[in-house]
Amino acid sequence: MTPSRADVLVLFGATGDLAKKKLFPALYDLEELGELDLQVFGVASSKWTQEVFKENVESAVRARKPDVNEKVLGKLLGEMQLIVGDYADPETFVALARALKDFKLPVIYLAIAPEYFAQITESLAAVGLTRHARVVVEKPFGRDLESAKDLDASLKKLLPEEQIFRIDHYLGKEAVEDLLVFRFANTLFEPVWNRNYVSNIQITMAENFGIDGRGKFYDAVGATRDVLQNHILQVLTMLTMEPPIDMGSESMQNEKIKVLSAIREIKPSDVVRGQYVGYLEEAGVAEQSNTETFVAMKLFIDNWRWAGVPIYLRTGKKMPETVLEVIVEFKRPPRDLFGKGRSNTVRFRLGAKDGVDISLQAKKPGTKLVTETVDLSVEFVTEFGDRQGPYERLLRAAMLGDHFRFTRIDAVLSSWQILDDLLKSPSRVHPYFEGSWGPEEANELVTGGWNAVGTEADKQMHVPGI
Ligand code: BG6
Repeated sequence: MTPSRADVLVLFGATGDLAKKKLFPALYDLEELGELDLQVFGVASSKWTQEVFKENVESAVRARKPDVNEKVLGKLLGEMQLIVGDYADPETFVALARALKDFKLPVIYLAIAPEYFAQITESLAAVGLTRHARVVVEKPFGRDLESAKDLDASLKKLLPEEQIFRIDHYLGKEAVEDLLVFRFANTLFEPVWNRNYVSNIQITMAENFGIDGRGKFYDAVGATRDVLQNHILQVLTMLTMEPPIDMGSESMQNEKIKVLSAIREIKPSDVVRGQYVGYLEEAGVAEQSNTETFVAMKLFIDNWRWAGVPIYLRTGKKMPETVLEVIVEFKRPPRDLFGKGRSNTVRFRLGAKDGVDISLQAKKPGTKLVTETVDLSVEFVTEFGDRQGPYERLLRAAMLGDHFRFTRIDAVLSSWQILDDLLKSPSRVHPYFEGSWGPEEANELVTGGWNAVGTEADKQMHVPGI
């Protein structure tokens, strides 16, 4: 049976950062496509008037959409209303229940700090709102295996799995989803996508900014919990999972859990944690904090497809540039008939300027039979123009009750399990300077070194091969 479409949307954290930067612009996009058209209730403890709330929604939309359609924006603002109340006060939920009394199927989005998830869900249940609601929870889901299990147990007392939508906004990114299409819609690649041909895989998620005033949140979390346990492991899963039997949500989740469960326990010596110099002076950061703003690790997937292939992950703040890239490097030919050329690589650009580059060896012009590296490249924006943003896609999916782009609990627990030992006994952080690719020790993890990413890799694409 196809689930029904939600008839009302509730946003907890409506005066917060996520709502401002991502959710309001995404609601505008849906409205513009004619796919919203429903009442939206914001809930927040800040004592804003309706006017101030709407002014904030308006400026959030205008900041992201310079050529806003005034009619669409007007319609969106007309549909929005704020309910002010403390999250710990039962009256807030009574007021919400009153506001929702004529609606049948609410989507309730908890865009708030994770420590409130369980308590708010209980308060929602106390006023009967969890009976039909779809509850959307932001990441991180827990802070380790045990707390994720506890949170799950608290939510499951009140809501079945079908009513819980766990967000990882990377699952809403078109370019991340393209990994599946690239692999399973092109017979060219699938036969070589394994240990026989792939020499190593590298995933880099780098950001050229710091913690942006989020010191209190970030210091309790760190890079591993903030982005590696969720965003990066999702990318890895899409890249390495077996083809699902169909594109249904359950089939997808079943394959994801298989590959995650095959990841071998990570040795502490295969992990490097870093902290940028100056982090300790950031507001909200503990004096002697050992929180990592950079982490790199080597891991292995112990299954038939990937046995023995090293997989390198790294992420960090205050890096030289903001890039999200995967490089799949292939083994070299058994003999170098034309001198030593470079290995073939497939490079997925998943962040800015998303697209794919496949590096090949071609004959260098001239009398000698030697190679030069050439690239086959596609830039998605040139091919397809602007595409949907992740939050637009996730809000739409939650409203339609489609779990495909959300994480299932077993996969969440499995990803915490992989990191559990490391999180329990974190090694010391190595300092690194802003604008570097992290501590020197991270380079020693990778046999042959990290492949160039971002603009460095772009430059390499256009110079003659070695
Ligand atoms: C968030 C993290 O989940 O993802 C942030 O909390 C990070 O620290 C952000 O900056 C990155 O998202 P994107 O879509 O800009 O790659």
